[in-house]
Amino acid sequence: MKPIPSEIFGSTRTSSEKHLEEYNNSGLKQISDGKVGVLLMAGGQGTRLGVNYPKGMYNVGLPSQKSLFCIQGERIKRLINLAQQKYGHCYGLPWFIMTSEHTMEPTEEYFRSKNYFGLKKEDIIFFEQYMLPAFTFDGKIIMENKYKISKSPDGNGGLYKALRDRNILNEIKKRGILYLHAHSVDNILVKVADPIFIGYCISKNADCGAKVVEKAYPSEPLGVVCEVDGKFQVVEYSEITSNTAEKKNFDGSLLYSSGNICNHFFTTKFLDEIVSKYQDKLKLHIAKKKIPYVNSKGYECKPTEPNGIKMEKFIFDVFEFCTNLAVWEVNRDEEFSALKNAYAPGGKDNPCTSRLDLLNLHKKFVVKAGGKFINDSLICEISPLITYAGEGLEPYVKNKIFCTNLELKSEQ
Ligand code: UD1
Repeated sequence: MKPIPSEIFGSTRTSSEKHLEEYNNSGLKQISDGKVGVLLMAGGQGTRLGVNYPKGMYNVGLPSQKSLFCIQGERIKRLINLAQQKYGHCYGLPWFIMTSEHTMEPTEEYFRSKNYFGLKKEDIIFFEQYMLPAFTFDGKIIMENKYKISKSPDGNGGLYKALRDRNILNEIKKRGILYLHAHSVDNILVKVADPIFIGYCISKNADCGAKVVEKAYPSEPLGVVCEVDGKFQVVEYSEITSNTAEKKNFDGSLLYSSGNICNHFFTTKFLDEIVSKYQDKLKLHIAKKKIPYVNSKGYECKPTEPNGIKMEKFIFDVFEFCTNLAVWEVNRDEEFSALKNAYAPGGKDNPCTSRLDLLNLHKKFVVKAGGKFINDSLICEISPLITYAGEGLEPYVKNKIFCTNLELKSEQ
């Protein structure tokens, strides 16, 4: 295992303003030309968060009460506007949403009830990933009840099979899309279809890309992008040894610091290759879980200790098949705050941390645009329909001093 070489690594921290603007313009141009699609992975079961509905519907308690889906949808709408303003047209930014047996129906129903967040219905395409059976440690299939095999979604790497067998890749090709931005549903700060990331990957002639943040501490539950036996891959947090995770550089920084945030770039051409040649070669990862089962007397039981394994494919296991991988590091406080766990005092990656991270970022946007808050305890939320990444806020906030909480809403 080796850290990734510097040639494939870029960072918002070390890139000049000029380069960032070039990447941004290049990505936005592709969006305006209708060459970009978004692939949202929303098939997970949200077990750690503990809700029985799709995670994207979760409301973290922002003043606006917006859900993750709503925030993401509005970011897409804003990008479409930005592309129109800059290039005079936008031929659409289709949103492909991968769901699973548990999340398909409620997700579709939710989007319908929210009028697709003002986006075109035909540009939102839902599709369902497949399921895999759960096994006992000695290899027997677990029954959920007398007549039903216990199954769970086949992991976010199930994307590739679903793209092929649900005919989504053909739809992507039919629409003339060349680049896809794929990301998880649970990052409240996600820059959906991030033009800078897309522009950077295109400038590197990459067929596949990974956005990363610097890992905060060795045991942080983030996979690390690295090289293993000469091939690029992510070593998942559940599979790395603590010895390796703790390794340091001379300056004290972590040797394996490129923390994967489940945020990827693909060319359609590369996806096509994966789907036609490599999809079946993706390995299965196992996780030991507490899996409800029916016992030999026919009673349904809930184990208190792990009693079996679930199998999953991982989206990033295709890295080894690409020709040019590009890794793009971003600032965590601007782009990554994951909603994984239920709230617990002092806990991490929960509704409270997600909410605060978004509110803090929005406050930063205001200050950058020339506004001031009279004290630190004030909070601020800005509609994604007004700003995607802090742009265009001067007319609302420049030279203003805010003495109360601020919520900037859009009239759209
Ligand atoms: C994932 C990454 C990990 C990264 C972390 C950052 C993978 C395999 N692992 O871990 O490297 O550091 O995010 O937060 O990508 N999903 C599906 N179908 C499934 C399973 C998951 O669509 O069958 C979706 C989830 O809805 C979610 C995303 O994939 O949007 C990530 O899944 P999750 O199980 O939360 O991954 P982590 O273990 O947090």
